[in-house]
Amino acid sequence: MKIGKKIAWALLIVFIGMQFIRPEKNEATGDHMAVFLQETNPPEDVRGILKTACYDCHSNQTEYPWYNAVAPVSYWLADHVKDGKRHLNFSAWTSYDAKKKEHKLEEVVETVKEGEMPLKEYTWTHEGARLTREQREAVAAWAQQSRSLYEPAASQE
Ligand code: HEC
Repeated sequence: MKIGKKIAWALLIVFIGMQFIRPEKNEATGDHMAVFLQETNPPEDVRGILKTACYDCHSNQTEYPWYNAVAPVSYWLADHVKDGKRHLNFSAWTSYDAKKKEHKLEEVVETVKEGEMPLKEYTWTHEGARLTREQREAVAAWAQQSRSLYEPAASQE
């Protein structure tokens, strides 16, 4: 066998082997979003935007695309979700103190206004998450206003 062919076989075997290693899925059950939604009470349109553009990486519930069935894509997505949740997890709102909540909302205002969130890699494949200027402004306005729930002076800054 030629060396090139051997390498191709070896890679194929590694690829097949990878398919048996599945990262744990981020799929909570129950009403893990209730506290966050109750406290910050987003208007209907903002609720929809958060759901389609943010929750996949910032909550305990990810809606996986079909290609998550294929390793190493599944490893890559699992990493993104883990990293996203480590920075901000709306499902963990109860575990944040007021200062942290206020600060996270401030970052929501900044990242959404500046177009840093949702991540580009995500909007390539999730058309519904490509936000218009109006949608960005709606999210930023809600987040800005919600900051005052936790730090009364915050929304006047
Ligand atoms: C594809 C996954 C993904 C999506 C979708 C996504 N994010 Fe993120 N987000 C991340 C990752 C990963 C980080 C941390 C690394 C970074 O800042 O790039 C992050 C960081 C953040 C931070 C900074 C938190 C901190 O403590 O630094 C905020 C705020 C944020 N995201 C808000 C949002 C909002 C709001 C949306 C929806 C409009 C959104 N994200 C959509 C993955 C995502």
